Amino acid sequence: MTAKTMDELVALCKRRGFIFQSGEIYGGLQGMYDYGPLGVELKNNLKRAWWNAMVYENDNIEGLDAAILSNPLVLKHSGHEDTFSDPMVDCKSCQARWRADLVEDSKCPACKSTDLTDPRPFNLMFKTSVGPVDDGKSFAYLRPETAQQIFTNFKNVVDSTAKSLPFGIAQIGKAFRNEITPRNFIFRVREFEQMELEFFVVPGTDEEWHNKWVKSRVNWWEDQGVPESSLELYEVPGDELAHYSKRTVDIMYKFPHGVEELEGIANRTDFDLGSHTKNQDELEISADVMPNKASNSKLAIQDIETKKWVVPYVIEPSAGVDRGILAILNESYEVQELDSGKERTVLHLKPHLSPIKAAVIPLKKNNEDLVKTASDLKKALQKLNLGRVVLENSGNIGKSYRRHDEIGTPLCITIDFDTLEDGSATIRDRDSMKQERVSLDLIPEYLTKVINS
Ligand code: GAP
Repeated sequence: MTAKTMDELVALCKRRGFIFQSGEIYGGLQGMYDYGPLGVELKNNLKRAWWNAMVYENDNIEGLDAAILSNPLVLKHSGHEDTFSDPMVDCKSCQARWRADLVEDSKCPACKSTDLTDPRPFNLMFKTSVGPVDDGKSFAYLRPETAQQIFTNFKNVVDSTAKSLPFGIAQIGKAFRNEITPRNFIFRVREFEQMELEFFVVPGTDEEWHNKWVKSRVNWWEDQGVPESSLELYEVPGDELAHYSKRTVDIMYKFPHGVEELEGIANRTDFDLGSHTKNQDELEISADVMPNKASNSKLAIQDIETKKWVVPYVIEPSAGVDRGILAILNESYEVQELDSGKERTVLHLKPHLSPIKAAVIPLKKNNEDLVKTASDLKKALQKLNLGRVVLENSGNIGKSYRRHDEIGTPLCITIDFDTLEDGSATIRDRDSMKQERVSLDLIPEYLTKVINS
């Protein structure tokens, strides 16, 4: 089951504290969102799942957390200064600005005037001044992708970790794009997070590695609760490829507003390492790169046997955290009709992603013995380090169950008066709503199994 409309998800996110419009009390800021108490847990869990799959499960992949503010030379030589733009038109009548592909029949979508400028490129990078003097010369870009700092740190990582090909560098972090038309909730925003891997390979093995990574990424999304049946692979046509790409396969997802890109997997060849290298003519670089005198580095790796310097090709699986969150929320959302005639909303989140892993609920609010037992259990479960466990002293079991179904908590554990006698508690499963009695001392093992399932 999925949501019928984006509005259902937006309403749930606000009502339960997943995602809020940024600066809402001042009317908001277009294309910016804040993650609330549950949103930050869900987001951290998704990022952790990606980091585990990339860095911890692969000894040939290292992590990185680089600066967001970027030296303009990095983005000049990466090609972003010249090419990272969308064609846009201005309406001379109402002054609105539109992405050219959103303008139909040469009419302004707002006022319907046909008095429009010709399409002009609009660079999507945000600039900010650096240092105390705003003279227009000392500026930095807010990175439009996390990838560039991976390339510029290539030599640092190789030298400090003694890597040989194939190997990867992974990074999760913010990226910024001055999108002309941010829209569809957190789908297209101006500040977002990416999870990017740059996987460096021997030239000639790149096509095989590309196909491997496409398969592996689809499997990973399945593990996060986004089934293959909701995904499509899109072979990006030649005239739509980014300036650095030889081939890109997009993983597309059926978002509530339509089928769109969730993750892109590109073969960036030796374009980026070649572009950031100083003495390019000493190396065999296949890509068409701009001459570089400003860099002081040779971003290549020496073949141990032949001693020849090789500029690796790179395969880049690049996923959006925010789009991932939207897909996962959509995929897990269900409104069920119960036999009682009532409805319940439930998020069937994979337990490792659930913002709250378990809620411990004393049957009677403020009852000293029940609350003490519940509190001891909460502390024991929290110590397992599986994620957040809450003690819910509301005294209203039905209301607690409804709330925890709606936010995707896999287990609710009720401490009642029998618990004080027999040392067991009632565990209710979110998806089946089945209840069973489990001895208190077995509950840590029970929860661990559910979260790691
Ligand atoms: N380093 C390659 C790169 O940045 P991209 O296709 O432009 O490629 C990768 O971006 C991913 O980042 C996309 O698949 C998408 O999930 C996410 N993304 C890109 N622009 C976004 C935006 N404006 N809002 C939210 N996510 C975005």
